[in-house]
Amino acid sequence: MNLFDVKGKTVLITGASRGIGKSLALGLLEAGAIVYGTGSRPESITWMSQSGISGEVMDVRSETDAFRIIGMIREKHGKLDCLINNAGIATNTPASGFKEVELQDIVQTNYVGVFRTCQAYYKHHKKDGGNIINVSSVLGMIGSKLASVYSGAKGGVIALSKALAIEWCNSGYRVNVICPGLIDTDMTDMIKSKDHIISQVLAGIPMARLGKPEELLGATLFLVSDASSYMTGQTLVIDGGLSAQ
Ligand SMILES: NC(=O)c1ccc[n+]([C@@H]2O[C@H](COP(=O)([O-])OP(=O)(O)OC[C@H]3O[C@@H](n4cnc5c(N)ncnc54)[C@H](OP(=O)(O)O)[C@@H]3O)[C@@H](O)[C@H]2O)c1
Repeated sequence: MNLFDVKGKTVLITGASRGIGKSLALGLLEAGAIVYGTGSRPESITWMSQSGISGEVMDVRSETDAFRIIGMIREKHGKLDCLINNAGIATNTPASGFKEVELQDIVQTNYVGVFRTCQAYYKHHKKDGGNIINVSSVLGMIGSKLASVYSGAKGGVIALSKALAIEWCNSGYRVNVICPGLIDTDMTDMIKSKDHIISQVLAGIPMARLGKPEELLGATLFLVSDASSYMTGQTLVIDGGLSAQ
């Protein structure tokens, strides 16, 4: 028996075109899942078909994209077994400098989009149940400079996930969170590009390095599979010890 078996499970990962989402999509595919991945633009998803991932264009800020895509998967496979809300954006704007457009973009992408996609999943599956993994951030748990709105949105994702875990538990849903620390993707380019910033950042991480996207796969396989069948409303933190200090 393989406790962590995900063979034949249908999984939708938002923001699978690059970074963490891409790594999870390829890892889950290799483990035998039927993987749907989204990117925000047509050119982001062109590579997916050659890899065996079904690519869909989805803007998580849209009021209709999630409902349409999850409905299509439900119709084709009978059920979407697991939804992974991974798409996200970050900035390093100081709190005093936020303009309305940027504020809305961060909140809509990192928080409202997660809620809306969870809601679309529930509306399609209702009492049939489901499994949701929301990708938050260690910055949703601890304070940091130049991350105010991002931190608030990611902290909101943790609180939202607990609330949905309780509200939908009787309908057979599990809702859990993965909180990555600093991971080596395009999102951390702004940190990596300056020597004095990266050395300062690494000095604050007990493991003294950035994580690799593939280091989030183990926790994801655990949450997608039945190995975590008695777990809901919880957060797995994968941050090289950053938040343990
Ligand atoms: N990297 C880190 O250090 C770190 C740490 C903690 C948490 N996280 C979280 O982990 C998740 C993935 O981060 P990452 O580092 O892999 O980021 P990334 O490399 O910048 O990739 C971001 C992904 O999100 C998609 N995306 C952005 N805006 C979107 C929108 N409006 N609608 C749909 N998709 C959209 C992008 O699609 P396109 O390719 O089409 O633009 C891309 O697939 C995010 O939620 C992030 O906040 C990352």
